[in-house]
Amino acid sequence: MTERTFSIIKPDATRRNLTGKINAVIEDAGLRIVAQRRVKLTTDQAKKFYEVHAERPFYGELVEQMTAEPVVVQVLEGENAVAKYREVMGATNPEQAAEGTIRKSFALSIGENSVHGSDSLDNAKIEIAQFFTDDQIVG
Ligand code: RTP
Ligand code: MG
Repeated sequence: MTERTFSIIKPDATRRNLTGKINAVIEDAGLRIVAQRRVKLTTDQAKKFYEVHAERPFYGELVEQMTAEPVVVQVLEGENAVAKYREVMGATNPEQAAEGTIRKSFALSIGENSVHGSDSLDNAKIEIAQFFTDDQIVG
């Protein structure tokens, strides 16, 4: 089934000029970038986005990191895009990520792990709506 998923190229990656290299991995995997914008997240935006982790010990640090520098927010489209992109990203902890994944290639640590991708189709819809209107997504 053709799906859309939400992606963020995180500050650790934009800071190191890795946007193009990460987009190449995404496109080589057959995912199409159908919307993309560079933006500096506000603290409120980052807090809301990671609300599910509010009680976790790393929440404060995560919000700090996500607002430190610009990010690139994206909508990716393709066959089974949600699961496909999770595969392309690799495990949250780059030490456990498979060879060829974005996190294995580029991530610095479990916190500064270069990319975000939605973990379900329902969350993809919610996350996309936080950053894009329908007319900004051109499939
Ligand atoms: P994401 O939501 O960013 O796509 O990553 P994920 O599903 O692989 O990982 P998740 O469990 O949802 O955690 C969200 C983000 O929080 C940071 N994190 N830090 N210091 C830590 O132990 C820790 N654990 C998670 C990471 O940036 C992770 O991507
Ligand atoms: Mg997650």
